[in-house]
Amino acid sequence: MRRRLRLRGDAALTLLLGATLGLLLYSQRDRAAPTTSAPPGPGKATRRPTPGPRAFPAPEAAADLPVYEGDTPPPPTPTGPFDFGRYLRAKDQRRFPLLINQPLKCRGDGEPGGPPDLLIAVKSVAADFERRQAVRQTWGAEGRVQGALVRRVFLLGVPRGAGPDGAEAEQAGARAHWSALLRAESDAYADVLLWAFDDTFFNLTLKEIHFLAWASAFCPDVRFVFKGDSDVFVHVGNLLEFLASRDPAQDLLVGDVIVQARPIRVRASKYYIPEAVYGLHAYPAYAGGGGFVISGATLRRLADACAQVELFPIDDVFLGMCLQRLRLTPEPHPAFRTFGISPPSAAPHLHTFDPCFYRELVVVHGLSAADIWLMWRLLQGPPGPACAHSWPAAAGPFQWGP
Ligand SMILES: *[C@@H]1O[C@H](CO)[C@@H](O)[C@H](O)[C@H]1NC(C)=O
Repeated sequence: MRRRLRLRGDAALTLLLGATLGLLLYSQRDRAAPTTSAPPGPGKATRRPTPGPRAFPAPEAAADLPVYEGDTPPPPTPTGPFDFGRYLRAKDQRRFPLLINQPLKCRGDGEPGGPPDLLIAVKSVAADFERRQAVRQTWGAEGRVQGALVRRVFLLGVPRGAGPDGAEAEQAGARAHWSALLRAESDAYADVLLWAFDDTFFNLTLKEIHFLAWASAFCPDVRFVFKGDSDVFVHVGNLLEFLASRDPAQDLLVGDVIVQARPIRVRASKYYIPEAVYGLHAYPAYAGGGGFVISGATLRRLADACAQVELFPIDDVFLGMCLQRLRLTPEPHPAFRTFGISPPSAAPHLHTFDPCFYRELVVVHGLSAADIWLMWRLLQGPPGPACAHSWPAAAGPFQWGP
């Protein structure tokens, strides 16, 4: 009995110490600032930055934020074991009609200055309206940024209805419902591209091909294209600054480059690839993470190359295969490397919402709609004295600007 009591005492002491340490970390971080916690999302758990409370040091930012309770739905992920046989049999079916187009997206429509300098293309799913809304109103806003003309599209497929067992009529009903909603959204924002394939994880490669074909047909004179996930935050100013010295007529693909990645042969993995589907021991270099940027020249060449490469169920790797066909090496970049940035685990909240930390990055990923809003609000504010010291940059000695 005594022993048990003592054990309990020890546990209580540990708890108390833990709590004190937590409090200490908080008080160190920001003095007068309120703290808030954004609900961690149910999305891709593997690379989400912080599943905990977060501190952020901008009192005014919290005041009139739109309310985003809860989180947006996770991207479509496979439910059962992947049917490679079926995938291989259907592989030749790789052209699907465009159900909602934005044919005028790159035609200037009233905006002087001709084709866009930067086209932002964001992969999204129909149900993820909140993230699209956050992107529209924050980093993905159209118009002039530092003098450059920025345009935006979202890339969607048809949401899978009630599943393969659902009643035919029910599925048709669900599809009609989504189609009406997406049409309304397209009318309101003119940024929805919808293709007639099922919007599933393993169909992201189809999304890649169809987007590249669309952009080279409807946006042939664009200077640069950023393509990314809807859970990213892009510092468009930094991106444009980086692109300023680049020639859109030259080949360019910059991102978080992954080399010599080995195919995963573990059946239970989401990324499982049997040897019969890919026999080599390593994938070609590819840009992974949350997005990449390409030049107009590379866009056109990639669209042609990808049209000839056999479908492969992992879209990042598929793009790597297209690059290989072009004998093009993707260019790694320090500020893109932070795609997969993982905050120190002992105090994960210290970095996540520190705008000073993010001021120097190009892309951050694994964010909810609320995160995207907060990030935007915080980056709008003046740097403040807190930014005077430099962070231990995960990306090495690289610095944006002077
Ligand atoms: C991709 O979309 C097509 C057309 O909608 C569908 O038949 C197929 O099952 C989807 N493939 C995967 C792997 O989800």
